[in-house]
Amino acid sequence: MFKLAPSILSADFWRLGEQIKEIEAAGAEELHIDVMDGVFVPTISFGMPVIRSIRKETSLYLDVHLMVNEPIRFVDKFAHDGADGITVHKEACQDLKKTLLEIKKHPVRAGVSINPATPVAEILEVLPLVNRVLVMTVVPGFGGQKLIVECLDKVKELVKYRQEHGLAFDIEVDGGIGKSNIFTVAQAGAEVFVAGTAVFSGDISANIYALKEEFSGAN
Ligand code: DX5
Ligand code: ZN
Repeated sequence: MFKLAPSILSADFWRLGEQIKEIEAAGAEELHIDVMDGVFVPTISFGMPVIRSIRKETSLYLDVHLMVNEPIRFVDKFAHDGADGITVHKEACQDLKKTLLEIKKHPVRAGVSINPATPVAEILEVLPLVNRVLVMTVVPGFGGQKLIVECLDKVKELVKYRQEHGLAFDIEVDGGIGKSNIFTVAQAGAEVFVAGTAVFSGDISANIYALKEEFSGAN
């Protein structure tokens, strides 16, 4: 089952509530929330208060992507403030396993993410612990970048490894996903698609229908 996760990083924050309602009505399955600390990535986005406000108004699955150094410090807060899933970066954790176990103490799904330069081999050890692997298809930090096609090889590698080892995590991709490539990305084996620019540029509902139409063909 494919899922679309619009990233509110590309939203118009003046109209955030309205835009989230539109996303929900158009049938997106999740809402992707990019938390950036200005250290792990070169810019700052938003944090807990924003998530608390969103949680009060929507029942959409809140997919929190922490682009933050040592995210273990904030797991408890994001879990309490309404995250349904928390994903941390391999590159940002001194002790990745401990960080994932910290997430698993809460009733949220645990995810691990890898940057384009990080090979799958570096997370093999934690795969039995996670519910989700987020393969970055751009260098994280900003919306609106071009998908790095080589990253799709990691998606294929994860599909194979999951099958061979009887694991059950889902595979998410993030960065540069749009109408022109979502079918190819789905065919590579991704199941959850983050999209910022492709959802928020122009007509949100029409963009969501078009993206979902494209990936449903890859089943
Ligand atoms: C990138 C973020 C993404 C970003 C995607 O650092 O993690 O979630 O919002 O934006 P687009 O879809 O515009 O590449
Ligand atoms: Zn993201």
